[in-house]
Amino acid sequence: MALLNVNIDHVATIRQARLTDEPDPVWAAVQCELAGANGITVHLRQDRRHIGDRDVALLKQTVACKLNLEMSMAESITRIAERLKPDQVTLVPEKRVELTTEGGLDCVKQRKRLAEVVRRMHKKGILVSTFIVPEPEQIVASAETGCDAVELHTGMYANANTPRTVQRRLAALERGRDCAEENGLVVHAGHGLTYRNIGPVAAMRGVCELNIGHSIVSRAVLVGMREATARMLALMASSHQPVPKG
Ligand code: PXP
Repeated sequence: MALLNVNIDHVATIRQARLTDEPDPVWAAVQCELAGANGITVHLRQDRRHIGDRDVALLKQTVACKLNLEMSMAESITRIAERLKPDQVTLVPEKRVELTTEGGLDCVKQRKRLAEVVRRMHKKGILVSTFIVPEPEQIVASAETGCDAVELHTGMYANANTPRTVQRRLAALERGRDCAEENGLVVHAGHGLTYRNIGPVAAMRGVCELNIGHSIVSRAVLVGMREATARMLALMASSHQPVPKG
């Protein structure tokens, strides 16, 4: 079964709506861990619109499970990662005017910079994953630059609005998974996953980690972070139950 990393960016989004000190993402991370999450993911954006430097520094000291830092390859952020040494970084594209990460990282176009960032992260013992659309050239470029994993972008699957499109996008993710495995990469997936659409992705063979944020934090507003995380883990587990015969 895939492991769950809870992305807690939007706990910080609520805090930043009033530029105050609550809710604290560090407290949220504790609740996720207590519910059985495998990891905590945060995106330290260049514009610091939600997670800030203080959050990442405290999470590094307090998270006992995996700390996955989502980040662009900007030099200032790369230096912070080198200093803080999260367990893993997930490299994403970043635009100033976007609601959330749009599209995948272009590993082909940015191959030179990617190779440098991978080398610098590995020197600090940090695993590197790239957030990419499930296309062979992106997967091969990630492998050739020395990445450990790829996170396949599930946003297109999440946005599919007919059963046929859903099947097509799942098939694209499966082809991406196969290609990543052939190239020696660990497979992660994420973006746009919810309590309603998690089933087929959680059931996909070979997907080792799922990064889920908005849906869990939204549910947590109503039921609490621990319950929201536990409910997602239960859905992921039940998607692996053998289908009863007859
Ligand atoms: N993976 C990556 C690379 C992301 O950028 C995000 C959004 O921050 C997520 C996963 C989580 O997406 P969502 O909030 O839609 O669950």
